[in-house]
Amino acid sequence: MTLPTPAVRDQALALASPELPAYLYDLGALRAHAARVRAALPEQVELYYAAKANPEPEILAALEPRVDGYEVASGGELAHVAAAVPGRPLAFGGPGKTPDEVTAALELGVERFHVESEHELRVLAELARRVAPRRRVAVLPRVNLPVPDGSLAGSALAMGGRPAPFGMDPARAEPMLRALADGTYPQLEPRGVHAHLASGLDAAGLLAVARSVVGWATGLGVPITEVNVGGGMGVDYAAPQRRFDWAAYGEGLARIAGEHPGLTLRIEPGRALTAYCGWYATEVLDVKRSHGEEFAVLRGGTHHLRTPATKGHDQPCSVLPVEGWPHPWPRPAAGGGRVTLVGQLCTPKDVLARRVPLPELRAGDRVVFSLAGAYAWNISHHDFLMHPRPGFHFLNRETQEAAPATRNPVGVTRTA
Ligand SMILES: Cc1ncc(COP(=O)(O)O)c(C=O)c1O
Repeated sequence: MTLPTPAVRDQALALASPELPAYLYDLGALRAHAARVRAALPEQVELYYAAKANPEPEILAALEPRVDGYEVASGGELAHVAAAVPGRPLAFGGPGKTPDEVTAALELGVERFHVESEHELRVLAELARRVAPRRRVAVLPRVNLPVPDGSLAGSALAMGGRPAPFGMDPARAEPMLRALADGTYPQLEPRGVHAHLASGLDAAGLLAVARSVVGWATGLGVPITEVNVGGGMGVDYAAPQRRFDWAAYGEGLARIAGEHPGLTLRIEPGRALTAYCGWYATEVLDVKRSHGEEFAVLRGGTHHLRTPATKGHDQPCSVLPVEGWPHPWPRPAAGGGRVTLVGQLCTPKDVLARRVPLPELRAGDRVVFSLAGAYAWNISHHDFLMHPRPGFHFLNRETQEAAPATRNPVGVTRTA
């Protein structure tokens, strides 16, 4: 799923220049990947999708049969996901929930609240009394647990195990759990604990985190039925063929689950579910040399695909050569060595991949960036320089194999 799939390749070559750049999502590849992830997990483990990774409605819908629910982290995500996949279980997390967001979540009947602070718990208790007086509201305090030395060492994005605005120190989460259990908040139902300590870990690292969180939560002597150990499964942009070891992770979770019969474990991956199903396709506009280095300027850039700029990596890519050159002027071409692929923005940070070995690259050739299905378009600064927005194409839909769905830049869905 790293090289363009046949459907992605065909679409990247079929689009006319003005229709580029474009995000191409292979929903068939996504369904197959999610099915493999689900199959690797034991029954006692629920799989939620962290919608923040990619909230496109088509992605949420493609995942629907393979996930048990969705993690949302704002009122906006809440409303969006509830509309895209109506009736599916939602867990509402994230720091700084406003009273309006909590009210909206209660009105929507959100299944679970991940509570990030004592203040948030008090707001939730009062609003639940007013908005949903006849319903018990399930709560999982989010704990920021110190973990064994080295467990988070592989993470470039640690959100816990150190001072952080996310969740609560164990010394604060524990009294909260006890207060929930002893009926101090009669309308709030303590389910257990939530933790998301880091992103970008391998299976061994995440299992160490899971073991710590489950051990801490079950050792308190407070009755709990659920532990959510978060997301954070690594995606290796430098070696895209190296994949998170879902089989080892599933086996490890099965061992932890086996030690705690009756306890539901839950995970909420984002990146590792959707990164591999998205490609950003564009074309070479110009090729130039500067102080001994070769640059290819591409249509689009990091205002569409910010992932390499934020994470500091080179986005993996493939070139699809285009033979025809329709213009009367000469066709710029690279010299056959290493080429740095940049976008159209007036900033040196607009770099998609550095010094890529490319035996041949000419203006008009197509370049397709892979691993663009997560934290890509939705984290990008779209409006900088007012270039046009990319197209969005959803390929291999279950019900429309022959007719890929296409969304134009203003967000209206049409069938190509
Ligand atoms: C609370 C929470 N859960 C899940 C995720 C998903 O993480 P990832 O995309 O690394 O799997 C995040 C990401 O920031 C998060 O903050």
